[in-house]
Amino acid sequence: MQEIEEQKRYMKEVKKINEGITKKYYILTMGCQLNENDSEKLSGMLEEMGYSKVEEEKEADLVLLNTCCIRENAEDKLFGKLGELKRAKTENGIIIAIGGCMMQQDHMIEKIKKSYPFVDLIFGTHTLHKFPEDLYQVLNEKEKIKDVLDIDGEIYEGLPIKRDSKIKASVTIMNGCNNFCSYCIVPYVRGRERSRNPKDIMEEIVGLAKEGYKEITLLGQNVNSYLRSEKEGLRPKFEEYEGIHSFATLLRKVNEIKGIERIRFISPHPKDFTQDVIEAIRDGEKICKLIHLPLQSGSTNILKKMNRKYSKEQYLKLVENMKKIIPNLTLSTDIIVGFPGETEEDFEDTLDVVRKVKFEQVYMFLYSRRVGTPGDKMEDQIPEEVKHERFNRLKKLVEEQMEESNQKYVGTIQTVLVDGPSKNNKTLLSGRTDSNKVVIFEGPQNCIHQLVKIKIISEHMWYLRGELIEE
Ligand code: SAH
Ligand code: SF4
Ligand code: F3S
Repeated sequence: MQEIEEQKRYMKEVKKINEGITKKYYILTMGCQLNENDSEKLSGMLEEMGYSKVEEEKEADLVLLNTCCIRENAEDKLFGKLGELKRAKTENGIIIAIGGCMMQQDHMIEKIKKSYPFVDLIFGTHTLHKFPEDLYQVLNEKEKIKDVLDIDGEIYEGLPIKRDSKIKASVTIMNGCNNFCSYCIVPYVRGRERSRNPKDIMEEIVGLAKEGYKEITLLGQNVNSYLRSEKEGLRPKFEEYEGIHSFATLLRKVNEIKGIERIRFISPHPKDFTQDVIEAIRDGEKICKLIHLPLQSGSTNILKKMNRKYSKEQYLKLVENMKKIIPNLTLSTDIIVGFPGETEEDFEDTLDVVRKVKFEQVYMFLYSRRVGTPGDKMEDQIPEEVKHERFNRLKKLVEEQMEESNQKYVGTIQTVLVDGPSKNNKTLLSGRTDSNKVVIFEGPQNCIHQLVKIKIISEHMWYLRGELIEE
């Protein structure tokens, strides 16, 4: 790809500028796993340009903030940070670069230009690959750069990447979203759905397996519409590769890759959870049986206003069908509390679904108005105190259920992928079950990064305690 070749040239130029000096960078990732994966790519480019990573921003010559705008509190985080950085900028002349989803919004760029004029570089989600060129301009011309595009960026292959973990890797399989849920900003800041070439995905995962990676998480805003836009003629088709033509066929092929032991994916949309995907999960012995199935609301009325395209009953039926077909299935979900127009009855419907499905984990969010989305323009916004009161009721139910679900593990034998020493007690090891529960146990160092069998002996809300079974 010509564009990437050009960026590689800029990487070499920046490296030359930095020759003989050890330049340091600090990167702060504020968003979801896709945002984290982007940070890994930015880190890869920075390392290539002669920068090395530091954990303290005080030590850095370059501070890179990778932003998120999914909720107001994600945006507040950036402004707090910029306030702190102002002094470092005037005292040490560090370079400050901001990228990510928030930079795709014009009103945010205006705010930064006005209130934080010391920021050197602003780039968006569609121009991430051009970071070397933008940084070169900042270093060389000493001018402020804004590089944000409002069109769907290409998916570029061949960028360097510096991954955070040695055993678990995220692989982005598609960018963008076509769903336009009425509360959500993502389609506006990430553009329309475009899939990555199956060949590139497979080659990346085969490469990761060779490097010793054991767990792969396939990423996308709506993974089960992988290759759909291409199939529907909205985007150019890829050459056929190993019979991969859908998300289900991709899952089956990844399952065959030698060396990979676990496969996860986020996020699927319930409306697109087709039978072929359910069967691929059942058949793939490496595919984790914890599935994230975002509910958002349990009320059919609210789901309609949210533009989710399924009803309470359809969601419950899907869960029932999945549980029937996939042995040992566990589920996690996302729920928004206090969407405009949510009545007490609507909220009760959400609690009802939570009681019925018994999720392994529930990620709960207070509805946050996003400029430019239909939800923001709806009239019957819910008062903050009502949102909080409902949120607390949901949280209480979820915690009760979690205790119950943890109890079910006690006495069972679980396969655990060992991450390393436990953070709180270095003499113990910590790992994760197929269902992503943390397990703490005593074991030899050579268990680290391996799959081991553990007997669960007790539960402690946020983790399980177990004993290693010698084989
Ligand atoms: N594409 C993914 C999720 C992306 S955002 C999916 O469809 O599941 C992650 C979660 O943030 C969403 O599932 C939703 O629960 C929450 N979220 C998105 N917009 C929000 C908003 N405006 N206010 C509160 N929560 C929101
Ligand atoms: Fe947002 Fe809905 Fe797309 Fe998920 S599916 S990213 S919630 S618009
Ligand atoms: Fe992710 Fe936040 Fe963007 S959730 S896609 S980083 S708006």
